[in-house]
Amino acid sequence: MFGLRRPPKHASHAFRSWTNTFLRRSLAAPTSRPPSIEILGGTYPTDETTNITPSIISKLPERLYSRPGHPIHILKSLIESHFNQHGAPSTFHCPSADSFSPLVTPKQNFDDLSFPSDHPGRSLQDSYYVNRDLLLRTHTSAHEVELFASGHNSWLFTSDVYRRDEIDASHYPVFHQMEGASVFSTNVTGMKDLVDNIEYTRYATDQKDLEIEDLTVINDENPYQLDHDPEQVDLVIESLKLSINGLLLKLFRDAAGVSRADPLRVRWIPAYFPFTTPSYEVEVFFNGKWLEILGCGVVQDATLQHANVKNKLGWAFGLGLERIAMILTSIPDIRLFWSKDHRFLSQFSSGNLTKFQPYSKYPACYKDLSFWLPGPTVEHNDVFDLVRDCAGDLVENVELIDDFIHPKNQKRSLCFRINYRSMDRSLSNEEVNEIHTRVASLSKDRLGVEIR
Ligand code: PHE
Repeated sequence: MFGLRRPPKHASHAFRSWTNTFLRRSLAAPTSRPPSIEILGGTYPTDETTNITPSIISKLPERLYSRPGHPIHILKSLIESHFNQHGAPSTFHCPSADSFSPLVTPKQNFDDLSFPSDHPGRSLQDSYYVNRDLLLRTHTSAHEVELFASGHNSWLFTSDVYRRDEIDASHYPVFHQMEGASVFSTNVTGMKDLVDNIEYTRYATDQKDLEIEDLTVINDENPYQLDHDPEQVDLVIESLKLSINGLLLKLFRDAAGVSRADPLRVRWIPAYFPFTTPSYEVEVFFNGKWLEILGCGVVQDATLQHANVKNKLGWAFGLGLERIAMILTSIPDIRLFWSKDHRFLSQFSSGNLTKFQPYSKYPACYKDLSFWLPGPTVEHNDVFDLVRDCAGDLVENVELIDDFIHPKNQKRSLCFRINYRSMDRSLSNEEVNEIHTRVASLSKDRLGVEIR
């Protein structure tokens, strides 16, 4: 996540912890860098920060969010129609991500959202940079300023987002987020709209179907903003809580087909985001577990100022669509969202997030990659990216299984276990060997390691 004050309990997709605390140089050898790269039909100069990879560039044209019948699109539409249901007092504008480039400036992704200059999210280890002035958006919040500047008071925005991360069944360097926001004028009319909104939302959601644990308080750790009137903010928070609780009820009871007998348990926890305060994280008790679902809060006035929006205040939230879709449909591996196999795609149809029927589990094949490091350390995300470049979606997970320092020469050795498995066919031994040989040779070229 973008700076939770407590350590995350488990990895999720709206929330990824920024584990590295400072900007480090890309390990790519300078000689292997072309002077420019082609991305979505444009040509961009590279520099020493360039760390975007071919496998990531190949995902950019996919636009899963716009494919009817794809679970990402189904979930997006479900949430959009929930917020725009008949009779709702505000209309949520839902612009297509197609008119917003995934390539954003550090100003859009970080500065305008009040990220401190040393925030780890900015690091080359966590984000994909085209060059120092351009990166792939790491969250949909990167477009908040443009969206607020468009003049719509309420909007929902869904797109692909990109983060460097580990390789396993729930982590993929491309995933989808939905950002939603609603702002109100601070004048009498605006506040009347806000109160109407609260009343409508309270009425539209059956409160007895919910069991809310609210662990939040306003304090120095999670304060009001200086320029805000606390009474107005309390109303905004009430509107936020009612809106989110209503959405969760829609998703985790109605869409999940869960019986109405038991109330849905929802937990509100204090959080930290540079671009909201107070900030919250919301969890749902589902299938016997508390699951982190989204982050939200009261929009920083600085963001609205950058959008030239004056005398308004409101809330925003951001959620990860893969994570919610995986929970609701029991899709077991995040790579399936990228599958072109009809046995996957034909299972879903507009309007319904039905349970996924696994069609087959093909055998896995693991290979170990052991090497001596040229120096004290290597960034694991550099290893993961090069494995993806060689294996694409045939890699299921990568795990560090050994790390030792030779007692005589003090050289450090790492061993990563790479599990290869296709989601839709059996892999031959030769094919896996060939991929693994490429992984070893690319490790030498990119990381300067010595294969053991
Ligand atoms: N952008 C945040 C994330 O990716 C989520 C968020 C959006 C939080 C809007 C608050 C408000 O984790």
